[in-house]
Amino acid sequence: MATLTYLTTTQFDFGALELLPKEMKNAGITKPFIATDAGLVKVGIVEKVLAAMGVDAPVFDETPGNPTEEAVKKALAQYKAAGCDGIIALGGGSSMDLGKAVGLLAASGGPLEQYDPLQGGARNIKGMTPLIAVPTTSGTGSEVSVGFVIILEDGRKMTFASPHFIPKAAICDPELTMGLPAMMTAATGMDAITHCIEAFLTPNVNPPAEGVALDGLWRGMQYLPRAVKDGSDRDARWHMMMCSTEGAFAFVKGLGAVHAMSHAAGRIRRLNPHHGTLNAVFLPEVLRFNESVCEEKYVRLRQAMGLEPGADIAQAIADLNAQIGIPSGLAEMGIVESDIAEMVEYSLKDLAARGNPRKASAEDFEAMIRASM
Ligand SMILES: [Fe+2]
Repeated sequence: MATLTYLTTTQFDFGALELLPKEMKNAGITKPFIATDAGLVKVGIVEKVLAAMGVDAPVFDETPGNPTEEAVKKALAQYKAAGCDGIIALGGGSSMDLGKAVGLLAASGGPLEQYDPLQGGARNIKGMTPLIAVPTTSGTGSEVSVGFVIILEDGRKMTFASPHFIPKAAICDPELTMGLPAMMTAATGMDAITHCIEAFLTPNVNPPAEGVALDGLWRGMQYLPRAVKDGSDRDARWHMMMCSTEGAFAFVKGLGAVHAMSHAAGRIRRLNPHHGTLNAVFLPEVLRFNESVCEEKYVRLRQAMGLEPGADIAQAIADLNAQIGIPSGLAEMGIVESDIAEMVEYSLKDLAARGNPRKASAEDFEAMIRASM
């Protein structure tokens, strides 16, 4: 039996931001609260969004690179004090995820830990504040996804997942990504490509999601090098935003070992490593690890990636990483030998590990991490 749910309203094109007031009305938001980060205030995007909304709104701009429970609580206090009735989650994955966490706590109460899906926490959800997501990067897909990720106060990096967390609407305006620097374009783009690949490979039955994943993967492979090389390439920005949105449409199916290890490594606070960069670095080794159980799917991956029959997919990703300036491995990102044991431990526990097509043991995770150093 397959249960298929697709998913929310997405307004997608250059100029989509103009539809924000209409979507706020549809969502019943009259007193919006903006969850974002300081960088987007600085470059004028928050001002642009406020102008498009046509109403003033309190702005929380302290979202950290990997959002924390502490930051969620601070934003929640501001949200409540201002008497808001909805959230505009504006930014990359961090701001959108923080916005979702604030929306959950505002409607269902704290602490966040009680909603851990690995402990059946979804049953504790009483409701969700109306939320509209406005992405400013092309990677996470959080604007249409069922999930969000927060580092809890005890140091755990927890993935929360429920249909409640799908935004009421997504405003995908590639104009908002035009100023994204090359390195961020590359890292976030590799997150989107990883979503498409892991969602396609996870064995849960959802062929429509697989079709979307392969379409997103085709766009990512074609257009990410162009978007990195020339950030003003409007076609490339459009297709990368579509790749990102499709990646998250697809990962309603699940993810895999790349994300398990990225979540584990993302907890290393002294480094605060970028999620997309981590995915890019882990992806070739996971593709090698999974190959023996995915032969038929690898044929279709090669087609979507524009590779010759029988081509080495892992090497193609490694080559793409090199072309777009992704670090050569974990060591270059600052990860050291003494980080490995804890990374293995958290990889095993992470929700995404359950979706990998080939079950990975502690020894397997350790070998993949070492090979990715
Ligand atoms: Fe991701």
